[in-house]
Amino acid sequence: MSALSPELREALVAAARSAAERAYAPYSHFQVGAALLFEDGVIVTGANVENASYGLSLCAETVACAIASHGGRRGGLVAVAVLGGPGGQVAAPVTPCGRCRQVLNELAGLGGTDPLVLCVGATEILETRLSVLLPHAFGPAQLG
Ligand code: THU
Repeated sequence: MSALSPELREALVAAARSAAERAYAPYSHFQVGAALLFEDGVIVTGANVENASYGLSLCAETVACAIASHGGRRGGLVAVAVLGGPGGQVAAPVTPCGRCRQVLNELAGLGGTDPLVLCVGATEILETRLSVLLPHAFGPAQLG
């Protein structure tokens, strides 16, 4: 997919915003929402889920990918929106962490797509591609 229509873009960002409200982030207070758009128009969302053992916390994008996978999705990922900030206030664009890039790459790789990634901030949206965020990625194809 080359670009999203303004309507889809708005719907995807709105879904990420609403997902962020369901974050469980009592330790960092940094609430993140992620929304995944699939080829059939379905949007799957996730939010970060923290843990008292801090290192076990799950990022919003990873939660969204797990939910999508559990829902039977294998590829078809065309776009991702991610946003968040301290106290749920969106400030600077949130770019997916390294682990989430790898998790997104697994889902994207299964369907051979290179999803658009919208990193949403209060005043700007950084729009890029997963392949730009994670060049030379290790993926399922390399396992033979
Ligand atoms: N976080 C995400 O959910 N996604 C990212 O890509 C970056 C970080 C979460 C993890 C943690 O709960 C909080 O943001 C602060 O790092």
